[in-house]
Amino acid sequence: MNRSDFEPLGFGVGLRRCHYTQILEEHPRIDWFEVISENFMVAGGRLLQVLEDIRSHYPIVMHGVSLSIGSTDPLNFKYLKQLATMVRQFEPAWVSDHLCWTGVEGRNLHDLLPLPYTDEAVQHVASRIRQVQELLERTILIENVSSYMEFTCSRLSEWEFLSAVADEADCAILLDINNIFVNAFNHGFDAVRYIDSVPAERVIQFHLAGHSDHGTYLLGTHDHPIRSEVWALYEHAVGRFGRVPTLIEWDDNIPELEVLAATADEARSRCEAVFRREGSRVAGPL
Ligand SMILES: [Fe+2]
Repeated sequence: MNRSDFEPLGFGVGLRRCHYTQILEEHPRIDWFEVISENFMVAGGRLLQVLEDIRSHYPIVMHGVSLSIGSTDPLNFKYLKQLATMVRQFEPAWVSDHLCWTGVEGRNLHDLLPLPYTDEAVQHVASRIRQVQELLERTILIENVSSYMEFTCSRLSEWEFLSAVADEADCAILLDINNIFVNAFNHGFDAVRYIDSVPAERVIQFHLAGHSDHGTYLLGTHDHPIRSEVWALYEHAVGRFGRVPTLIEWDDNIPELEVLAATADEARSRCEAVFRREGSRVAGPL
């Protein structure tokens, strides 16, 4: 993969149903939208027209939740064909999904589950990512997920696993800063060390989101404002990776579009502040 093949999109927000009408009527000043691919896997009708209209005014990226790239089930070629059709129709800047599994033996567990961090799993997942990339004829982004358990058979750290999969598959990385923060608390590792260890040339997008604090563990609920500690980690990531396109992810208790846009603007301001503070030490643009 080549970092320069990806557009420097700026600061976007997740496209959510409750905002469709406002976006279509007002065309608010937002750099780009991230679309949940599965929400638009329909045979036609108004929903696809809505996306066509939004796409004619904004860049979009397609973010999936059903690839189940880590499963031992065969790849779902029916799903991949639908995804390829959407890619042809809407020409997203890129396509992403999660480094996880969501089901096995044909059963969908509707959750993004972590993998064992082993060399065997690296080879398994990387070979599947390569197949998907060949089928879609493009480099895909894989995202680190939040997790609440670990496999005792793991031999690599989470960041070593993510890096090894990306290198082996020659794919890109969507780095979710909130998920790193959540997992660092839940599993007791150093979030900064994680960010400092991921291959910089592969990081093409950031996610920023809120989470819930349950005392003994954090839950990646995406239903709160972004915590100050996650903003601080974001600034550290900008210092290492540069002006990486950043997405505000909000999935529950979704606020007004103005709040999402203001949060995207806060990411922009913090990113620029890092550049003013650290200048040429920061990585160049995508
Ligand atoms: Fe995310």
